[in-house]
Amino acid sequence: MLQIFNERNRDILVYVKDGLYPRTEAKVSVFDSVVQGGDAVWEGIRVYQNGIFMFDRHLDRLYDSAHALSFENIPMRDAVKQAVFQTLEANKMFDDTHIRLTLTRGEKITSGMDPRLNQEGCCIIVLAEWKPPVYDNDHGIRVMTSTIRRNSPMSLDSKIHHNNLLNNIQAKIQSNFAKVDAALMLDAYGFASELNGTNIFMIKNEKVYTPHADACLPGITRGLVIEICNELNIPIVEKNISLTELYNADLFFCTGSMGEITPIIELDGRSISGGTRHTILEKIRLSFENKIPKYSEKIPNT
Ligand SMILES: Cc1ncc(COP(=O)(O)O)c(C=O)c1O
Repeated sequence: MLQIFNERNRDILVYVKDGLYPRTEAKVSVFDSVVQGGDAVWEGIRVYQNGIFMFDRHLDRLYDSAHALSFENIPMRDAVKQAVFQTLEANKMFDDTHIRLTLTRGEKITSGMDPRLNQEGCCIIVLAEWKPPVYDNDHGIRVMTSTIRRNSPMSLDSKIHHNNLLNNIQAKIQSNFAKVDAALMLDAYGFASELNGTNIFMIKNEKVYTPHADACLPGITRGLVIEICNELNIPIVEKNISLTELYNADLFFCTGSMGEITPIIELDGRSISGGTRHTILEKIRLSFENKIPKYSEKIPNT
């Protein structure tokens, strides 16, 4: 499903490093680490009419990722929050918005890989766009299994939410050629890890299963779905899941801030028997919707 350009985003203001710039002038230096090596960390965050959803959990993950990569001179949490608030207020974006919040290692004094070439501190980018959930959550999506394996801690730990996304982009290219919506990525042992940009769950015999977060991003939405299952006494198990188990799932769905909760109706040409509907999925969705006001941080002055 191709993301269509939204006219409303033509005149947005984007926060880069020290202030807001019109879309066409919002740029980073060619010496920035994100240009030099994808050396940056990011979060995709959704804004609902109640505020910024799970803002603190996203910031926790951003700071954990930056710490793991040994970033220096990271802006204080309050400064990052203020940059986000300022961007939303300037654009009058108080609903139906997706924020791509990026923290790069900053500018280098010359091109190169070595973080010692970074002497200016990190660069923050707040790109907020009008963007409804990307998938058709009523009708679901079709996916295929990619031959590209998801990184494991053996190479690049998926717990770091970094901008070096080529692993996932390669899988996405395969799904484009296959004319389906997304790619399922396996781990080094051949078990399912996640789709190229979302986490996965399956329902079988009234139980919910999701892969261990060993080779997938421990998604914030994934964490919330696990929390909801526990609250509702729906059995939820983290385990290795093979393709055969997914082909025979009663229901298969994916989760992420971009698309919320989306049924997967087809995997590798096999229809998933339950399609888009299952009482457990309905319960999870209802609880998710009820949590939006509770888990959203109010934007000041709104
Ligand atoms: C590879 C990958 N998996 C899963 C997710 C979903 O994570 P979250 O629920 O935190 O948005 C993302 C989101 O950016 C992602 O990039």
